[in-house]
Amino acid sequence: MYSIIKTSHSHLAWVALLILIIVVVLSSMAFFSKKKWSASQFKIALIGLIAAHIQLLIGLILYFTSPFGMSNLSGETMKDSFARLLAVEHPLINIIAIILITMGYSKGKKALETEGAAKSVFIFYTIGLVLILSRIPWHVWMK
Ligand code: HEM
Ligand code: HEM
Repeated sequence: MYSIIKTSHSHLAWVALLILIIVVVLSSMAFFSKKKWSASQFKIALIGLIAAHIQLLIGLILYFTSPFGMSNLSGETMKDSFARLLAVEHPLINIIAIILITMGYSKGKKALETEGAAKSVFIFYTIGLVLILSRIPWHVWMK
């Protein structure tokens, strides 16, 4: 069970990051050229939202099944920067990042056909993506 969840989270991370980067690039182009996103152009933000939510769901399951997740919470873990990254920083910061992405999506959806749609997606998804990238355990990923 643990290894299936961990492998899924590890591989889907590539897909989620790639999609979020594409959404940030497209929304920045629309934002800087003052484009008004229609419902069909906004679909790309939905794909990014779904990718982030799937990663959140699998991440939460992983948090409760992994020996490096909740079960590893202790004073010793807090003193060890790598253990703390996996058990505290990565989960916490990524939940915040995905909440921001969800807020950007909701605000954008309410602003369809105005310049606000791409603006919300660009600002919120960029902050979310930067937070996610800041807390990836890069040196163990895919090992
Ligand atoms: C722990 C798991 C999850 C949580 C806590 C969660 C939470 C949320 C929340 C709070 C919203 C509301 C956004 C709004 O204000 O409109 C939302 C919307 C959505 N979520 Fe999730 N989600 C989870 C997993 C998933 C998964 C696994 C998928 C897809 C496979 C998914 C797909 C969506 C979609 C499509 C929307 C709505 C888009 C819309 O409003 O048009 N979520 N989710
Ligand atoms: C978009 C959001 C996220 C991305 C891109 C992501 C990506 C990753 C990556 C690349 C790893 C390393 C996998 C490996 O060692 O091969 C990892 C590990 C982990 N992630 Fe996430 N993650 C995300 C969100 C979350 C969330 C929301 C949680 C929990 C609430 C979570 C919990 C964990 C845990 C506990 C591990 C360590 C698993 C272990 O080594 O046993 N992740 N994540």
